[in-house]
Amino acid sequence: MELFLLFLFFLLMVFFCFFLYSFPLSFKLKEPISKLQLPPGKTGWPIVGETLEFAAMGRNGTPEKFFKDRMSKYSQEVFKTSLLCEQIAVFCGPAANKFVFSNENKLVALSWPSSAKKIFPSSNSSTKLRAVALTLLKPDNLHKYVAIVDSIAKSHLETQWNFQKEVNVLSLVRQFDFTAACRLFLSINDPHQIEDCAKPFEVMAAGIFTLPINLPGSSYNRGIKAANSVRQKLLGIIKQRKGEVMDKQLVHDEDLLSLFLTKPDENGKFMSEPEIADHLLAALLASQDSTTASITFTMKYLAEFPDIYDEVLKEQRSIAQEKIPGEPLNWKDLQKMRYAWNVVSEVLRLVPPVQGNFREVLTDFTYSTFFIPKGWKIYWTPNSTHKNPQYFSDPEKFDPSRFEGSGPMPHTFVPFGGGSRICPGKDFARVVILVFMYNVIGKFRWEKLLPDEKTVVLPIPLPAKGLPVVLHPH
Ligand code: HEM
Repeated sequence: MELFLLFLFFLLMVFFCFFLYSFPLSFKLKEPISKLQLPPGKTGWPIVGETLEFAAMGRNGTPEKFFKDRMSKYSQEVFKTSLLCEQIAVFCGPAANKFVFSNENKLVALSWPSSAKKIFPSSNSSTKLRAVALTLLKPDNLHKYVAIVDSIAKSHLETQWNFQKEVNVLSLVRQFDFTAACRLFLSINDPHQIEDCAKPFEVMAAGIFTLPINLPGSSYNRGIKAANSVRQKLLGIIKQRKGEVMDKQLVHDEDLLSLFLTKPDENGKFMSEPEIADHLLAALLASQDSTTASITFTMKYLAEFPDIYDEVLKEQRSIAQEKIPGEPLNWKDLQKMRYAWNVVSEVLRLVPPVQGNFREVLTDFTYSTFFIPKGWKIYWTPNSTHKNPQYFSDPEKFDPSRFEGSGPMPHTFVPFGGGSRICPGKDFARVVILVFMYNVIGKFRWEKLLPDEKTVVLPIPLPAKGLPVVLHPH
């Protein structure tokens, strides 16, 4: 069905191109290119732009190639393209990263692609989400979450991994992450209620960064329908909680939903129920796949490098020795997991879960001699530095020692972004990833069942078959 739709789409494009090119150039541009000195590059086909080429490289597991090819073709750290129906200037390299991160709300402002806007219609800005996420994830709360996530990880491993010879890492880690988010963001513990949301949530996430072709059967259309289904379930939960707040029976005073219900914005206005549902969807989306991908790829690399696995195990055993048997993990324990975090950082360098993000240009400016007009979109990406030998020698090599000492050069290692829009969930992600790794390594070694399993990036990187492994309990 999807192939047929794409074919239909291509036919439409061919007619559109013919129509467009039969007009003189002056109709297409308000001002001549030579005068404006726009960045070099192609915007590809009308509407789809270069999205299909970008997606094909992602499917091959090499999204960085899209940027690398163009950077070397134009010998520039900025080039233009068109992705997901947006005209974009791609900013590459550490200086460009610094420029984007330090000019937030001056020259540029965070912007979602229009495909995502249609899936979350009432979440036009993520400012409220950011503020609430920062309140929820303030240090005091994070410290408390360590023990809670530890107990969720233990019970998940006991019920889903123990006594299994082989497991599909991706699907189980996804289940663990979703359970942890439902518990901490919504105070939902019922496994049936969690499972009920998990499936449509996955379909929604898969639909968001596809071409926004809202035709029956397309991934985008399925994503919108799935988002509506999760939204309905969330609206039920919101209504029930609102009742508890009104009756002053509120017991979950520190989860994301309570914060959305009880904290007004700077003008004293409270969010409507559909707005809260969209913000909850966005929070689940921002946290879920990125953490799942990080844990899954950490497990993949530890299977491939047994000596690195042994080092992590050694660090863990020295932490465990200082604890009373059965005592849950705490914040101090996490600070001692330095080597484990270097391993995760190397995973985030080689397989960044987030491929980059958009900014909208607020006012005309010049960057590196190129004119960037107001209204354009900018895209920054970790793929422009993470695998560049200028900043990371032998960049394809898995080597956690890169993060020892002073670590990478500023603005070259940017899996969480940077500046005032840096990911507000980065410390929470660290808690979830390290706590899960501590528990799974404490119980098992594992071996990959598919030694040459491909990685696909759609747009979150994932092992193509979900990383099936054989478990060897200690
Ligand atoms: C390894 C896991 C994660 C990675 C690699 C990651 C990465 C990112 C990146 C690159 C951005 C965009 C920053 C920018 O545009 O400059 C972002 C934004 C965001 N992330 Fe994360 N993230 C992770 C986990 C989480 C978690 C666990 C949460 C929630 C608890 C979260 C919540 C958010 C939110 C709310 C935003 C939007 C911030 C804003 O609008 O200012 N992330 N993340």
